[in-house]
Amino acid sequence: MSSAKVRPALEFEGQPVKALKPTHCFTHPTSGVEARVWVGDCREILPRLPEIQRSELDLVFADPPFNWARAYDEWDDQMADHEYLDFTYDWLDLCAGGLKDTGSLWVNIPDDWAAEIVVHLKQRGMTMVNWCIWHYRFGQNTKGRFINSKVHVLYFSKHPTRRTWNPEPVLETSDRRAIYGDPRTESKRDGMPAGLRVPMDVWYGKFWGRVQGNNLERRHYHDNQLPEVYLERVIACSSNPGDLVLDPFLGSGTTGVMAHAMGRRFIGTEFSVQNAKNAVERMKAGPVREIGSTRGASTAIFETRRVSRQAKPPKGA
Ligand SMILES: C[S@@+](CC[C@H](N)C(=O)[O-])C[C@H]1O[C@@H](n2cnc3c(N)ncnc32)[C@H](O)[C@@H]1O
Repeated sequence: MSSAKVRPALEFEGQPVKALKPTHCFTHPTSGVEARVWVGDCREILPRLPEIQRSELDLVFADPPFNWARAYDEWDDQMADHEYLDFTYDWLDLCAGGLKDTGSLWVNIPDDWAAEIVVHLKQRGMTMVNWCIWHYRFGQNTKGRFINSKVHVLYFSKHPTRRTWNPEPVLETSDRRAIYGDPRTESKRDGMPAGLRVPMDVWYGKFWGRVQGNNLERRHYHDNQLPEVYLERVIACSSNPGDLVLDPFLGSGTTGVMAHAMGRRFIGTEFSVQNAKNAVERMKAGPVREIGSTRGASTAIFETRRVSRQAKPPKGA
């Protein structure tokens, strides 16, 4: 099988390009991994990064503006549909082209644009691994249509078989253990630790709600912050310590915070000077919860027996 036929960005607007200096650059005090952040339009910055030109990225996580006329600090979030799609295809191609053969690309996107993105990435030869849903219970109230309570989490790999995949650190307590106390789950032979399973493709649970109000994670100045557990799952299962992670739409910095704390090298781009500055401060401060502190927890909706919601994490995970 051949790998994805995505054209790597080797030039910018037909011209050879020089590498750009990052706006912010710092290293983690204990792991020593480097994080770099550039301020500007990702479509202009990414083609100038040698890591992208040489296809060295292990993981890309992108949570772009949704074109919902949101009051981002500087970005104008109301393009004509065709302009927004051109913008989307441009950054998707840059990100996909910058991936290693073992790399993966995740996109957080609402109903409005998910279908177009899936079709585009498939046409570019990327492999769809999962079409996950991030489900939350606190959607915007509506009376004339159903209330939105999800965002799509599109998980694509560059190569059909050679992607980095680490299920162990993201395992959760199975419903069989949490709800039914079924003894068969304690002796199962699927290679996974007893009572644990790979999470399902609809993501929800404790700490998975939208970050708002007086939520412990909330950083002022940004109302589109993703939960830390979401990025912890993505980074843990699809990259390794020392790997190179990119977020082209850094926002309040959630991907950078988690990647940096988890010992991954990090590259971020952000259009707003202020958002980038706040994100860097947040990355230096680290996550609000210890990495791995929610590992093995149950997401069972109904628990009928007295079973611990928090299973022991698998050995070595
Ligand atoms: C939805 S938010 C990202 C939120 C982020 N995932 C978090 O958890 O905080 C999108 C961000 O992308 C930035 N942005 C919009 N267009 C951009 C572009 N062309 N290049 C770089 N950043 C951009 C916006 O300023 C905004 O901060």
